[in-house]
Amino acid sequence: MKKLEKNILPVFYKKKPRRPLSKKQKSILNCSLKKFLLNKNHLDKKKKFLEIGFGYGENLINLSKKNKEKLIIGCEIYEPGITNLVENIERVNLKNIKIYPKNIFSLFNILKKNSIEKIFILYPDPWPKKKHFKRRLISKNLLKKLNKVLKLNGEIFISTDSEDYLYKILFEFFLNKNFFWINNKVTNCYKRPNEIVETKYEKKANLKKNKKFYLKFKKIC
Ligand SMILES: C[S@@+](CC[C@H](N)C(=O)[O-])C[C@H]1O[C@@H](n2cnc3c(N)ncnc32)[C@H](O)[C@@H]1O
Repeated sequence: MKKLEKNILPVFYKKKPRRPLSKKQKSILNCSLKKFLLNKNHLDKKKKFLEIGFGYGENLINLSKKNKEKLIIGCEIYEPGITNLVENIERVNLKNIKIYPKNIFSLFNILKKNSIEKIFILYPDPWPKKKHFKRRLISKNLLKKLNKVLKLNGEIFISTDSEDYLYKILFEFFLNKNFFWINNKVTNCYKRPNEIVETKYEKKANLKKNKKFYLKFKKIC
């Protein structure tokens, strides 16, 4: 297992087995999802936002409604979350969302350089145990990829309810000279920016009365 993890990470690894998908969910993944899959032709559209790990898609739906002229790309590997988003896109009849239902690291091979205006990563899995820290999404490697696909002056929004992960994220951004930390200090990170809505994970954080942090970075070179 250790060897396997070493080779695959940070690509993806299986979490604990989940409840099997329902018939309806399977049908959405096999049929309806096709209409919303991202393909290379969509990438020619000039103005694009990207959300990584959209969960159940609440924020993606809000981005889509508020930015009708932009292409909103959502990347997620959690199938129940993907099916929930597809149902909502169809219900509200949104036209500007495209889904990439695979690991974000494979999407970086397709996205064009300097092509994304805003990137959202809301509550990336905190992996609180020390032995699992290496599974955390935000790493030197991820920042290198984000820098490549983000436009100059483009912004990255990250939220977390893990204080430990907060400092790890800040550490990685400080080491990377291509980004400017807009909040400037932790006390400026408590208020949710207008661009983001409450997600399922944030509701869980609220129930646990966890402190939440909203980070914002700008690509400066
Ligand atoms: C803690 S959940 C947060 C979900 C959502 N953003 C929210 O705030 O409710 C993190 C999500 O990131 C997704 N994720 C983790 N690693 C990923 C990867 N490499 N590529 C795409 N999605 C990933 C997980 O499947 C999970 O749904």
